[in-house]
Amino acid sequence: MEGQEFWESAPGSLDFDRERHIYYLELMYRLVPSLYQGQEINRLTLAYFVISGLDILHALDRIDKEAVVNWVLSLQAHPKNEGTLENGQFYGFHGSRSSQFQSNVNGAAIPNGSHLASTYCALAILKTVGYELSLIDSELLLKSMKNLQQPDGCFMPIHTGGETDLRFVFCAAAICSMLKNWSGMDRAKAKEYIINCQSYDGGFGLIPGAESHGGATYCAVASLKLMGFIEEDLLSKNASCHIINVPLLLNWSLQKQGQDGGFQGRPNKPTDTCYAFWVGGVLRILGAEKFINEKALHGFLLTCQSEYGGFSKFPRLPPDLYHSYYGFCGFSLLKEPGLNSICVELGLTDVAAIGL
Ligand code: FPP
Ligand code: ZN
Repeated sequence: MEGQEFWESAPGSLDFDRERHIYYLELMYRLVPSLYQGQEINRLTLAYFVISGLDILHALDRIDKEAVVNWVLSLQAHPKNEGTLENGQFYGFHGSRSSQFQSNVNGAAIPNGSHLASTYCALAILKTVGYELSLIDSELLLKSMKNLQQPDGCFMPIHTGGETDLRFVFCAAAICSMLKNWSGMDRAKAKEYIINCQSYDGGFGLIPGAESHGGATYCAVASLKLMGFIEEDLLSKNASCHIINVPLLLNWSLQKQGQDGGFQGRPNKPTDTCYAFWVGGVLRILGAEKFINEKALHGFLLTCQSEYGGFSKFPRLPPDLYHSYYGFCGFSLLKEPGLNSICVELGLTDVAAIGL
């Protein structure tokens, strides 16, 4: 093996196995396996991985689009009294049926459980199956979402008791972008919050002062892109006008590609399938993907491809839906033949994003 790189000698399939991946997602479409019981509350997120995954694989014909639309729409929260915001509650989408009917605990009314992440997934699914989003009752959704924005510009995902961090700034930006209506957030404030999350090393933490992380860095860069600030920044020739430090960000992102070809989420952590999208996607948005060692990344991802279809986090583990989806995204970024291209900043295929 002397002189041979790790990714060339690692066990695993030789090619991207599209048919097996479709089979894996079809199984997940029909029945959520018992391993995912604890994730029932996040059912819309699991469905997003399956449906957008099938779209990347060019296999949306395997699902009943009308049934999907009806199910997703049935998860939207509506106020009891029409037109009222009822104590600052959020009227987005519930993650699943169980959160929808949990409106009364020990006789005490609790706020509706609709959540920014499930709302993002709901709209992403609807867009993927070609539903016209202008048909959605979005006025109250956006009005109530604005109440989730905090004085520092960050977002809370539910109307009370949630953590606030960059993940939810991203969800809010993606929701406004998909609904083509930015009344749901104060973009200038969100931009300030994002800028405050860039760390000394160039990456972004989930909150100001937190360790840089690939997932948080994606949320920061994708949100800025959706809000129209990346073009502005990259086009400005005067570095002192830049809102974020792009050279340091590029340097940090490129350093996340490891010796085995995969990307890690932060220094001294193992490389993992999902960061091919979180960090690879940041490099795509910044127009710097040419600096990725694509052959090495391709080789690493194949070592995480499961013989059952799907992808695992690390080589030789069983597949899971999250890593499968981001594995497909990784292969799409690598321009695997037969896969649809992706709109990185929305986390959807280009076809779904443009609404063809
Ligand atoms: C660390 O997990 C994970 C985080 C700090 C959160 C990362 C954020 C995302 C993945 C973005 C979420 C995106 C949306 C669209 C809401 P870990 O310690 O298990 O991971 P690591 O060991 O690889 O660092
Ligand atoms: Zn991962």
